[in-house]
Amino acid sequence: MSQSLLINKKIKNFKKSITVSGDKSLSIRWVLFSSLANGISISKNLLISEDVKAAIDAVRKLGIKVNIRKNICKIYGRGVNGYRYKKNIVINAQNSGTLGRLILGLLINTKFPIKLIGDKSLSKRDFKRISDPLSKFGAKFKLNKNKFLPLTITGSNNLKPINYVENKGSAQCKSAIIFGGMRTKGQTTIKAKKSRNHTELLCNNLDLPIKIQNKKKFDLIKINEVKKINKLIYTIPGDISSSAFFIVLTVLNKNSKLIIKNVNINSSRIGIITILKRMGANISFKNIRIYKGEKNADIHIKHVNSLKAINCPSNLNSSAIDEFLVIFLVAAKAKGISYFKNLDELNKKESPRLIWGEKILNSIGIKTISTKNSIKIFGKPDLNLNKKVIIKNFLKDHRVFMTSVIAALSFGGDWEIHDKDSIKTSFPDFLKIINKLKS
Ligand code: S3P
Repeated sequence: MSQSLLINKKIKNFKKSITVSGDKSLSIRWVLFSSLANGISISKNLLISEDVKAAIDAVRKLGIKVNIRKNICKIYGRGVNGYRYKKNIVINAQNSGTLGRLILGLLINTKFPIKLIGDKSLSKRDFKRISDPLSKFGAKFKLNKNKFLPLTITGSNNLKPINYVENKGSAQCKSAIIFGGMRTKGQTTIKAKKSRNHTELLCNNLDLPIKIQNKKKFDLIKINEVKKINKLIYTIPGDISSSAFFIVLTVLNKNSKLIIKNVNINSSRIGIITILKRMGANISFKNIRIYKGEKNADIHIKHVNSLKAINCPSNLNSSAIDEFLVIFLVAAKAKGISYFKNLDELNKKESPRLIWGEKILNSIGIKTISTKNSIKIFGKPDLNLNKKVIIKNFLKDHRVFMTSVIAALSFGGDWEIHDKDSIKTSFPDFLKIINKLKS
């Protein structure tokens, strides 16, 4: 049984400089690309969390040697055709949608059926969004109730390139199709609604045969069969999605100041910064540099006394998709009624997060009006709690847990937050950093 965390005191003002763990999206992608490279790829500052460990276990199952010491990882790639497909391989993606979905793109040439399983949360998430496009290449799928895990994929040795319109704004779908295209002779074309573009940037950085045209609302991506991937030496920058909790904690806590060093600020990831700045937050990027095609910087945050509500434009949804739970906490403290809409994807995450965001807000006395894909949040600038709050049964969603901790430390009250172990999914050091800010 995972333990609960009890918090009954607000955090005092802090002035600190911190680093957060390596970016999860980049860590998983580094593992997958390196597993297909020629030679030994090395990463520093790899995120060592359950999701990334699941990715490492997955490539090991496919015959790839991996060594990890602290957060330095070596992957002994055997080339693009180096996976050892054999009978009865079962890959457990655990809680990770990114791993479960992306790896299927690499498995579309498996000779033997491979079974993909996951934990309770992942087994409730949609995999038809991946099996549909990958079936068009020629892979065959069997899914539980046509949509869910466990699934079985059987590859083909006669793959055909596809033209696909990805209209959910899902980087996981887009990336799975790019991986499928890398395995297939001829040109695969994807017209993809804007979403995080780490896969494309890594392809570019590795000189793979990819062409990208950025249009206003979508990207046009053309990818050809990949014959060789060079080994990848990579220092993973900090994760903006992990930083988000500390950004909000600083924004909400009087007289506080924080610097978060060396964070990835790819424009497809920083919706939270745009949203919070529009609400009046004081956040700036310093020391901006480009590393392997990705933009990294130090983030400087200062508390401000007044925050205003936002009518959040939907074109920011994809670049803030993992941060809405903590953004809602800022809306709770802002003057006015904030409105977030077209958030259909939010209820399809590790837990139904629009529903959980609303539950947390209501449990701290914030009025909300919601539909199945939108929420209005009636802010209370003088919000100060003096009651018991229990957060439990949230499918062990790491971001529900961490958001609740930030709420407890910012608004007061007497909190009992279940499933502390959930932080191991994406950010095992989360509570250590909280303690550093307290000391
Ligand atoms: C991710 C993409 C996003 C995000 C997830 C990580 C990725 O999901 O929510 O945490 O690394 O590609 P979708 O692409 O399904 O929106």
